[in-house]
Amino acid sequence: MKMIIDTDPGIDDAMAILYAAAHPGIELLGLTTVFGNVTARQATRNALHLVERAGLDIPVAQGENKPLVNGPIEPSHHVHGPDGFGEVTSIDARGTKEEEGAAAFLVRIARQHRGELVLCPVGPMTNIAKAMLLDPEFAENLAGIVFMGGALDVPGNVTPHAEANAYHDPHALDLVLKSGAAIRMIGLDVTNRVLLDAADFDTLAQINPAHGPFLQEMSRFYLAFYAARGQAGCGLHDPLTVMAAVMPDLLGFIRTPVEAVLEGAEGGATRRATHRPTIEVATACEPELIKELFFAPFRCVPA
Ligand code: RIB
Ligand code: CA
Repeated sequence: MKMIIDTDPGIDDAMAILYAAAHPGIELLGLTTVFGNVTARQATRNALHLVERAGLDIPVAQGENKPLVNGPIEPSHHVHGPDGFGEVTSIDARGTKEEEGAAAFLVRIARQHRGELVLCPVGPMTNIAKAMLLDPEFAENLAGIVFMGGALDVPGNVTPHAEANAYHDPHALDLVLKSGAAIRMIGLDVTNRVLLDAADFDTLAQINPAHGPFLQEMSRFYLAFYAARGQAGCGLHDPLTVMAAVMPDLLGFIRTPVEAVLEGAEGGATRRATHRPTIEVATACEPELIKELFFAPFRCVPA
């Protein structure tokens, strides 16, 4: 499967990218970066580091540093640490980003691989909205969009109503939800039901000496954040999204039009709508099976 991950790395983004790099069924054509957990600049640096660490030779195109309409937002340092990787602050990145910006890169690659490219946005939807504004055919050139964001029938994680990626750019998300693209939404309805705890990161460190200890080290900050909220592990948000893309039968879906609430106390919420395209929303999952399948590609990567 040809895939681009649009990302704001981010601890669970790092897990998702290293999972994708290790998965034999995924051909990563590039990463595009966006503000969110960190600034777009830091996201690019982190993405370049992950690409090098995974031994990939793929482009990293930097995208937007602020939402489509709303003012700039503060990075989520309290969730992902000062540089996005928890207490791991000493990463280096020798590579350089593409000269082309993320939206132009997405438009070009989607045209080049018409009907074949699966896009996995796991940060705010800003770059994807920009690509749609740049090229009216962008949505139909894609095989589909499988995105991490939203919370349909469960509470949010930044406000009682809103999930973080949706909250950080509701206008961009709404534009994409209206586009008519083939969309699967992987929101908190499922991602917060698949939790990894410290013992799972022990397992990861053991089965994958190349990346496991790195992910385990950054997970400590992430797990502490969740523990302070009374949650016994971190949600498998971004990795589950990549997994759902490459294993289309992994989750159960309902079909409904969805809109993003643009402002007010419920700004950033995602809710059922009418008079707009139907998308698929993940609502059912088997957490233990998903955890096993998450570990599987990491078991096969040589140290
Ligand atoms: O709500 C979870 C999402 O917000 C994930 O993509 C995480 O990386 C943060 O960006
Ligand atoms: Ca993310």
